[in-house]
Amino acid sequence: MEKLDKFYSVAPMMGKTDSFFCYLLNLINKKTVVYTEMMHAEAIIRTNILDDYNYLNNINNVAVQIAGNEPSRLALAAKKAAEKDFYEININCGCPSNRVVSGSFGINLLLNPKQVRRCAEEISRYTNKNISIKTRIGVDDYTSENILDNFLVELNNASINKYIIHARIAIREKLNTKDNLNIPPLDYERVFKLKKKFKNNTIIINGGFKHTNYNENIKRKIDGIMIGREAYKTPWIFNSDLTYENIEKKKYIIYTYIHFLKNNFEKYLFKKNALFHIQNLFNGYDGAKNWRNLVAHSVRSKNLNNLLNFIECDKLKVI
Ligand SMILES: Cc1cc2nc3c(=O)[nH]c(=O)nc-3n(C[C@H](O)[C@H](O)[C@H](O)COP(=O)(O)O)c2cc1C
Repeated sequence: MEKLDKFYSVAPMMGKTDSFFCYLLNLINKKTVVYTEMMHAEAIIRTNILDDYNYLNNINNVAVQIAGNEPSRLALAAKKAAEKDFYEININCGCPSNRVVSGSFGINLLLNPKQVRRCAEEISRYTNKNISIKTRIGVDDYTSENILDNFLVELNNASINKYIIHARIAIREKLNTKDNLNIPPLDYERVFKLKKKFKNNTIIINGGFKHTNYNENIKRKIDGIMIGREAYKTPWIFNSDLTYENIEKKKYIIYTYIHFLKNNFEKYLFKKNALFHIQNLFNGYDGAKNWRNLVAHSVRSKNLNNLLNFIECDKLKVI
């Protein structure tokens, strides 16, 4: 299996990068760092939501993303996550959804760096895990470069060294969450400029990246690339051995994943999302449509045997 360095990582995505997807990514490439979907500090503190990650072998390659704005609550949540040995604690300072904005966390925090600093300092008192921040290049009319620059200056004072920057602004209220992922234009140059200014920080760029073969030109300008939607659609990109022709290895990975799900569902609850993760992974192959239908059927029947049979009977082929 190719040793992909930590240059590429998988973005946090609600409803997508759950513990099952983290498990699947680990089967694809043990070295890839995956960010969990955003979890609110209160959910982490008051529920057993983190226990879903107990069965991962790669927990130390999984970064937990926490949302909130209360230093003591974020710290408590981070402590709970650190006890599970997550790779990194990431604070969400970029989500523009109405619910998040009305709770004054997510993207609102870009305009309140002192509060994020207090949160980071409090988290550091409870754990020595690395802390990172995910944010955007601006919000609404606050697009002056000073906004993001000052944000980093303030957080550098709390010894935060890693920043993941979604290279577009967010527009609160006027755009919904989905449009906020597509309509504001990408501005990679802004992120490259940030790296030039904050040379000692690790700056990861995010937004619109589609593969894991970017050339040296971009590697000179930035410390890493985070991939979201494409990582979910085609996680195979995280292992260069998994070419179109290498379908046998892909089948083996999915077979292993389904076995894992079978055992997991026997012990815990059936989770349909875990199956949605693999529904489109054979698109482009002969048999893909039958595979998709079979996955949909398994979601309804909660029976995974027909999926295992389908793979065993060699019904998926290169066209
Ligand atoms: C379905 C979905 C859910 C997302 N959930 C989160 C989230 O929980 N936390 C977060 O910081 N960003 C979230 N994002 C934003 C992604 O992390 C990423 O910044 C964005 O998709 C841009 O990267 P991409 O163009 O590679 O997809 C989400 C995006 C999508 C598509």
